[in-house]
Amino acid sequence: MLHNIKIAPSLLSSDFANLQTEMERCNQSQVELIHVDVMDGHFVPNITIGPLIVSAIKPYAKAPLDCHLMIKNPDKYIPDFAKAGADLISVHVEGEIHLHRTINMIKDCGAKAGVALNPATPLEYAYEIAEFVDFILLMSVNPGFGGQKFIPSFLRRCATLRKFLDKNNLQNVEIEVDGGIKKDNLEEVLKTGASMIVSGSGLFSGDFYNNVNDFRKIIDNFQKKTISV
Ligand code: DX5
Ligand code: ZN
Repeated sequence: MLHNIKIAPSLLSSDFANLQTEMERCNQSQVELIHVDVMDGHFVPNITIGPLIVSAIKPYAKAPLDCHLMIKNPDKYIPDFAKAGADLISVHVEGEIHLHRTINMIKDCGAKAGVALNPATPLEYAYEIAEFVDFILLMSVNPGFGGQKFIPSFLRRCATLRKFLDKNNLQNVEIEVDGGIKKDNLEEVLKTGASMIVSGSGLFSGDFYNNVNDFRKIIDNFQKKTISV
């Protein structure tokens, strides 16, 4: 199955003093998702956004809000994020969480459900839950900060996961990539089967509109090539 490739700017690298303007820039450039990084200072060393900010930006966002929960005990906060306007919610498989329960909770709240894996977490952690989720977020950096270097093992991991999903009749499950995605590595990432492309510093550093256009051109070229093969 060919998934629509979606660009998801990560707000972590945006101007937090002007989030309404940042939403308008996302709307104008017609990105398909807006990635919201939620960090609690426990699961990752950093602290960022809570449901209050999600509900504040929601009225200005045309694209669905993709909330990446890098937090301990996500069950406690999922209903709040859903109420605040999260359209997609992903939780990490690491830590003591009861994944099926958590995934059901996300779906019961009306959001699309995803699981996220750190770069050193075995892919097998995703296999048991894959049939229950809408997408799998494969981290290509260790979560916590923007602007980190892409970890190349992602390429092998993503290709392996895509094969597993396709073989097991789970073609509809998408793969999201997050961390260190820039113009110069986007094409090789697309080749491995990721269809939800998160980028923070790659889009917000420099001219946002130009960066989104450049990403789009790379995606269009890639799609033309794959269709003509
Ligand atoms: C990292 C976050 C990412 C981050 C990506 O913990 O999950 O979404 O914002 O930033 P870049 O694209 O700059 O690596
Ligand atoms: Zn993220």
